[in-house]
Amino acid sequence: MKTLTRVAEMQVAASGARALGKRLGFVPTMGALHEGHLSLVRRAKQDTDLTVVSIFVNPAQFGPSEDYLNYPRDLERDSGLLRGEGVDFLFAPPVEEIYPSDFQTCVAVERLSTPLEGQFRPGYFRGVATVVLKLFNIVQPHLAYFGQKDAQQCRVIQQLVRDLKLPVEIVICPIVREPDGLAMSSRNTYLSTEERQTALVLYKSLGRARELIQAGERRPAEIVREMRQLIEQEPRARIDYVALVDAATLEPLECVDGTVLIALAVWIGRARLLDNLLIEERDGRFTFQF
Ligand code: PAF
Repeated sequence: MKTLTRVAEMQVAASGARALGKRLGFVPTMGALHEGHLSLVRRAKQDTDLTVVSIFVNPAQFGPSEDYLNYPRDLERDSGLLRGEGVDFLFAPPVEEIYPSDFQTCVAVERLSTPLEGQFRPGYFRGVATVVLKLFNIVQPHLAYFGQKDAQQCRVIQQLVRDLKLPVEIVICPIVREPDGLAMSSRNTYLSTEERQTALVLYKSLGRARELIQAGERRPAEIVREMRQLIEQEPRARIDYVALVDAATLEPLECVDGTVLIALAVWIGRARLLDNLLIEERDGRFTFQF
């Protein structure tokens, strides 16, 4: 595995590989890698000839009171994991390489960035869309891989690609969970042993939503009410949102039908955790993707 830190070096390597007819698979990350990231890497390796992973903790997607400075960073450990997976290039630029002092361009995917995360983290998706667009320009991938755990991020990036006609295919991979159901996240490292137990309530609440729908409940407000009630039984949990929305537009629904996303963000101690459930209804039959 080659580690590159300069934009120009990465662009030369990517152009060279493309000129040789290689298909490039790209996994953008902020490091602190876990099995969720590695599942994206494995999928990229399966699908393409050459795999590039970026590690860049993007300051533009953190608010002033968020955890940018404390975000877990361990480049040596992450490099070892990526080498073990047979990754070809690790792109790990310093901040000034991506945001030189005269940097002044942003891209915003307006409507999809507004609900859910957008209500609690203003500017977050502008930061994500801007860095992802820039990374795409540097790495020039044929395919790029994102995790369904960040469901709204996936929609924002799909829309970015569609609106700007970017020549990259977005592949969304399933959530990877711990054996007890907790969705893998770099921020799980913030949880104490007791909080780690409490955090299971996110997955349990999604399970409750599935039970309700399977029992015939179709009213979003009722499903959300029951989920909130379950989470609120945990004194260590503080809900930012629990929402049942159209999975494509992220707009609220009157009734559970079509493709539905149930998404939630809950604080457990100092960790803000996300999870979601994707539901597809076809001819009255539901499939549930956790
Ligand atoms: O999902 C993440 O880790 C980040 O939002 C991403 C896509 C790497 C952009 O910084």
